[in-house]
Amino acid sequence: MGYYKMPALEETGYAVVDSYDQASDPQEWLDIEYVDWKSSGDTRFSPLASAYGDMECDGFWNHTPPKTDKDGVWVEKNVGLAPKLTSRAKEPNVNIGRCRVIELQPNSYADAIHNLHIDDNNRLNPDGTGWIVRAFFNLTDDQDSVMILREKKDDPSTEHRVPLPAGAQLVIDTQRLYHAAWHPGPDPRYCLITSYESGPNLEEWIAKRHPIARVDSPEVPAAELAEADRRAAKRAANAPVPEVMSEA
Ligand SMILES: [Fe+2]
Repeated sequence: MGYYKMPALEETGYAVVDSYDQASDPQEWLDIEYVDWKSSGDTRFSPLASAYGDMECDGFWNHTPPKTDKDGVWVEKNVGLAPKLTSRAKEPNVNIGRCRVIELQPNSYADAIHNLHIDDNNRLNPDGTGWIVRAFFNLTDDQDSVMILREKKDDPSTEHRVPLPAGAQLVIDTQRLYHAAWHPGPDPRYCLITSYESGPNLEEWIAKRHPIARVDSPEVPAAELAEADRRAAKRAANAPVPEVMSEA
């Protein structure tokens, strides 16, 4: 039978929709509680919804009983500190799995390329239900930062770079596209990341916000590209790394 996948993501695996007016909101991401949970890069996470409502960010399948990345339980303390972020996450009115704010320290383009990974969003997801995708709502005004997306991990020709100013809203099939943020800094980047089940309400939410499936990628300076190439060559010369899925 297979999963239901949204036509809006079919062409490139992502959609960028209208920006949100972030400047008028309080900076709730500075008030919430973060936990030390590592993903790609130098990060911390703050859960708004977790597997069973605890202050933790582990994959839902790593719990007892295990569950797929749906039916997240709101983390009372953080929801109380971040009502606006919570209401934004709920806006598409679809099943939500993990919902958290990521804090990412500055990195280089080469770091981001090294961090490229795909997510394991649909583990335990019952066949015939909606494919789980992720929304990224950028909170800080990171004018020089981009979300790097690649259909093929080691093929730069498949790369899209989506700018991440405050209010940027992206929906990404992160189990299809390799992804990582390049964030030059100098301050940490904050972004609300929510797992959603594909379905009519999410499609309507996307459609109403003028989705774009292909953005103009900002140029990467030659020195940054050269460093990424140098590190890629070094990785290739060492033992090949098996493909792994990250939980991030
Ligand atoms: Fe990820």
